[in-house]
Amino acid sequence: MSDSDLESTKLVIPNHIAIVMDGNGRWAKAQGKLRTFGHKKGVAVARDIVRYCGELGVKSLTLFAFSSENWQRPEKEVGFLMRLFIEALQSEVKTLHKNNVRLRFIGNRSRLEESLQKGMLNAETKTSGNTGLYFNVAVSYGGRWDIVNAVKKASEKGGVTEESISAYTETSGQHDVDLFIRSGGEKRISNFLLWQMSYAELYFTDVLWPEFSNEHLLTAIQDFSSRQRRFGKTGDQVVKEKTTN
Ligand code: IPE
Ligand code: IPE
Ligand code: MG
Repeated sequence: MSDSDLESTKLVIPNHIAIVMDGNGRWAKAQGKLRTFGHKKGVAVARDIVRYCGELGVKSLTLFAFSSENWQRPEKEVGFLMRLFIEALQSEVKTLHKNNVRLRFIGNRSRLEESLQKGMLNAETKTSGNTGLYFNVAVSYGGRWDIVNAVKKASEKGGVTEESISAYTETSGQHDVDLFIRSGGEKRISNFLLWQMSYAELYFTDVLWPEFSNEHLLTAIQDFSSRQRRFGKTGDQVVKEKTTN
């Protein structure tokens, strides 16, 4: 599709957008800076994207901040990232709360420092009564871990069904992912929201996360809007349903 075709497509706002914020290290390196510089800029970009999603009326936004596999990075980088999360928590929660955002952390918290765990819980409690955007931050998160946990809980509580597994995942009560975006040029899922992404539309861009802007997000949403989501049906069925609804 050409740019002008995309622009003329009616914008369909996804209920749930999930983003792998990749490319911080390469962006910093290209400028002769430390990887940590890229992570810092990455937080500022995330802040803008959260606000924009709220304005657009997106119901859920999940950002991949640190994967279960990222624990394997050099200790120094992991330490820096953990400090960055604590800092970001302290500086951002007030504004998120003011903007009616429901902040949630998803992932295996038991591996995180106690002070960070406490900060997360406080932020979640503070914003739990809000009614706007669900903003899920995936920290120490792995999609397989989420599924295993959910299946265990579902079987303890009565029965393993697709509905009960969904109900015990970390994003319980929220829509499945409609639009998956990955910046930084890699075309993989890297153990993100595996269960929740079963019918997500996938969008990959070479833009590195520190350079990702609201405009790039809008382009991704325009691309999403131009797709025919068939969920197994034929194209004709989908068109017919649209005109009769
Ligand atoms: C993503 O950027 C952020 C985290 C994984 C924490 P990277 O740090 O993976 O950046 P690249 O892929 O090395 O450029
Ligand atoms: C995925 O990025 C995790 C986050 C963005 C937090 P990675 O850069 O760690 O992914 P891989 O290892 O290249 O697949
Ligand atoms: Mg990476």
